Amino acid sequence: MNADIARALIAEAKRIVVLTGAGISAESGVPTFRGPGGLWKSFRPEELATPEAFARNPCLVWEWYAWRRSLVAECQPNAGHIALARLALELPGRTTIVTQNVDGLHHRAARAVAGRADSAPAYPLEVHGAIHRDRCSGCGRVSDGVTDVDPTSVETLPACVKCGAMLRPDVVWFGEALDPAVIGAAFDAARVADLCLVVGTSALVYPAASVPEVTLQAGGAVIEVNLEATSLSRLARVSLRGEAGKLVPTLID
Ligand code: OAD
Ligand code: ZN
Repeated sequence: MNADIARALIAEAKRIVVLTGAGISAESGVPTFRGPGGLWKSFRPEELATPEAFARNPCLVWEWYAWRRSLVAECQPNAGHIALARLALELPGRTTIVTQNVDGLHHRAARAVAGRADSAPAYPLEVHGAIHRDRCSGCGRVSDGVTDVDPTSVETLPACVKCGAMLRPDVVWFGEALDPAVIGAAFDAARVADLCLVVGTSALVYPAASVPEVTLQAGGAVIEVNLEATSLSRLARVSLRGEAGKLVPTLID
């Protein structure tokens, strides 16, 4: 059975890189981007998630991110996040989690699983940033996200305590470069991994979608967990169809 092959690949791998996307958080109640009910079905990314949109209409952009920030704050990590945190904490240094998600749920799962132990080995490389942080559009200072954003006017939007410029969510927008240190570390982990476990991503957005390709090129194997087939499915050694919150724990626990 495919799941048995996947379990054996995970058990035998010396180094594992995990790439997650919106699908891992779907069962926590965080909307995905491209599937049924996905955010990009009812919102236009060019109006909400580009530097040009922020320059044109920062109130609208902030209204949307403040809504998503409060939505995510109400969500809890699910059994998929918890199982991946266990995998990463079991043998620190063996597993690197790379996530495209900005929801912080991998961090929260890591802290829940580690208890009083060091949760850092299960913290993901967040290649698209984190929605619960702000970054200054002027000096770049990063801070905890403002929770009571008032998007009624430019004057009421959050401003930097250091330089006074407008704050923005600390996420990567379309047309922006990823932090080279973060995506570089993700590719380094992918290169040395004998296994890449890909969970809940349409694998359409680059450069993040290159993570499994790097593992494949270096001779490693790919396991995919997704509700449906993606462009990665035919390259994967094992492609499992189903919900991440149900499937991932059965592969790891
Ligand atoms: P997408 O919305 O493009 O894809 C979500 C994937 O998860 C789809 O392939 C679904 O079939 C799958 N899926 C949905 N629910 C699932 C479940 N319960 N279990 C398993 N799989 C499930 O989201 P991403 O691939 O994460 O970028 O999108 C990549 C990037 O595009 C995001 O990081 C975001 C977006 O624009 C930025 O914001 C920069
Ligand atoms: Zn500043």
